[in-house]
Amino acid sequence: MDFQVQMEKDLEMVEQALKAYLPKEEGQQKVIMEAANYSVNAGGKRLRPIFILETYRLFGGEDFSYVMPFMAAMEMIHTYSLVHDDLPAMDDDDYRRGRKTTHVVFGEAIGVLAGDALLNYAFETALKFHDLVDEKLAKGRIDEKEAYRQTRMGNRALQILASKAGIYGMIGGQVVDVENTDKPLSKEQLDFIYRLKTSALIEASMMIGACMAGADNDSISSVEKIARNIGMAFQIQDDILDVTSTEEVLGKSVLSDEKNHKTTYVTLKGLEQSRQAVKDLSVEAVRILHTLPIESAFIENLINMLVHRMN
Ligand code: IPE
Ligand code: IPE
Ligand code: MG
Ligand code: MG
Ligand code: MG
Repeated sequence: MDFQVQMEKDLEMVEQALKAYLPKEEGQQKVIMEAANYSVNAGGKRLRPIFILETYRLFGGEDFSYVMPFMAAMEMIHTYSLVHDDLPAMDDDDYRRGRKTTHVVFGEAIGVLAGDALLNYAFETALKFHDLVDEKLAKGRIDEKEAYRQTRMGNRALQILASKAGIYGMIGGQVVDVENTDKPLSKEQLDFIYRLKTSALIEASMMIGACMAGADNDSISSVEKIARNIGMAFQIQDDILDVTSTEEVLGKSVLSDEKNHKTTYVTLKGLEQSRQAVKDLSVEAVRILHTLPIESAFIENLINMLVHRMN
């Protein structure tokens, strides 16, 4: 199928998953659901859930209902990381996904709580995977043996989600990022930050897709390496766009890194070498992808699209 057509279908499936799993805006605490949904519904590229879906497909996954809770959960965790990243205590940015940031609209306290809410609700959502297995079993769509197999894969996916989002993953990266603001950094330190703050959630996405499709451990670890390279390239491209793009095109504040005195690939290596690094990392990701004995044209196209992305 044509890449663009497939991409649109995938995006539709992500929106479907989010629609199914985002919380209803009701009750005395209604404002927190509104604030959480505000940031998720603002849009975004939905890259991480697309990686779950496409890696699941890559390894022969057929029943997409099994990955839908994980797709929604991943986008919630990613969105929470952005809501908190934009807070005055962190990058202090006013614009995200073409809208005022959550704390600007709802105030700082609700901004903090909306991030907390999305993180917690992500796990409530991912855990609904178990209800799905129970339901399929009760309706006779799967037998006991298949229910057990799905449950094991789902638990493993939950472990991946939890650890890659946490102190050894995304949060850990954000910590070293904010701690080193205003300090000169070496390439090794910067690579550590990028691997954690950005690659970790992309690694989790591809690993969850592979795991849920029943891929073996060697394949899951190859997928982790592919995603690591994609994530590094993605963050370097993000650094480049922060200085070369506009708020209109990007949908978020530009020159944020300069404002916050951040060391980035661009300040460390310059634009030329940063662009080359994006290419080299993407080539490496595709090289590892080709070592897998499966047809992977869509993901290869996706990696190449990200090298040239404008937002
Ligand atoms: C922004 O992620 C944060 C980084 C890791 C650079 P995205 O560029 O994927 O943001 P959305 O989801 O499209 O808004
Ligand atoms: C943050 O990196 C990555 C996250 C884990 C949120 P940035 O601070 O560069 O992300 P943007 O540019 O604000 O999206
Ligand atoms: Mg930041
Ligand atoms: Mg930021
Ligand atoms: Mg940035």
